[in-house]
Amino acid sequence: MKNKHLYAGFKEKYGPYALMAGGSYGLGGAYAEALAKRGMNIVLIARDKEKLDAAAKRLMEQYPVDVIPLAADLADFEKVKAHLEKLTISIGLLVYNAAFAPIGLFETKSEDDLAKAAAVNVRTPLLLTRYLCESMIKNGRGGIVLMSSIAGMQGSPKLATYAATKSFNAVLAEGLWKELKGRGIDVTACVAGAIFTPGYQQAEKTKPAPGAMAAGDVAEQALNALGKGPVFIPGAVNKFARFLFMRLLSRKAAVNIMDKNTGGLS
Ligand SMILES: NC(=O)c1ccc[n+]([C@@H]2O[C@H](COP(=O)([O-])OP(=O)(O)OC[C@H]3O[C@@H](n4cnc5c(N)ncnc54)[C@H](OP(=O)(O)O)[C@@H]3O)[C@@H](O)[C@H]2O)c1
Repeated sequence: MKNKHLYAGFKEKYGPYALMAGGSYGLGGAYAEALAKRGMNIVLIARDKEKLDAAAKRLMEQYPVDVIPLAADLADFEKVKAHLEKLTISIGLLVYNAAFAPIGLFETKSEDDLAKAAAVNVRTPLLLTRYLCESMIKNGRGGIVLMSSIAGMQGSPKLATYAATKSFNAVLAEGLWKELKGRGIDVTACVAGAIFTPGYQQAEKTKPAPGAMAAGDVAEQALNALGKGPVFIPGAVNKFARFLFMRLLSRKAAVNIMDKNTGGLS
């Protein structure tokens, strides 16, 4: 198998099961496949049961792994936790991928949409991390990948709420990277730029942002980066963008540049 050397020891360190939160298509589907390539068994979460079951079946046909499909809404942490508590498996890796992006002017977003963004993008990854790190600490090993975004490195007009939640994930991962390192747990935030996924293609109706990447490349690179530092930025253009936004530009200039990218979203 291609990249076999890169995958050596992955399952021993992070297995036997990974929890793939939002993993039936798009970047999540690519993550699930990248995990299966590494021999990881997977608990696969998504809402659409038909797509989820098809993804689980496909993975089990292609790779010698067990995939447990769990149809659930990640907006409801308590329900997800109740499902997980019924499983008699050991989860050594959390990849939190799902997100909700209320796109458009803040004043036009409903309270329900804003609460859903907070639940899916902040509350559930936070509480799932807390829940799963307990057994990882007991086992003295594990891994956590939280999806963040270049949009979360500064205020992002028309994506203000989403960007703020992505900032939360990056900062959470950085703190936990240091705290949990000594307990054998690797934590990384994947701070991605544009990725060709159905969600992105639906939101970006003009031309893709510079440096837009294939989902498979982002997933592969992010898993390979686990254990190498608190933040991983896939792609040279995105690495430069993060440096520019966080180190070179004033906050005002960073927001104004971001506005040129996100201000046209609808
Ligand atoms: N796409 C980009 O350009 C881009 C750029 C930077 C960062 N990111 C980050 O990358 C991650 C993936 O983003 P994406 O929009 O491209 O998504 P995606 O990976 O294409 O798809 C989302 C997956 O999550 C599931 N999902 C979504 N909401 C869910 C919920 N409430 N409960 C359970 N499952 C849910 C979907 O299945 P169901 O719909 O069936 O639930 C699907 O399997 C996000 O964290 C995003 O912030 C994306």
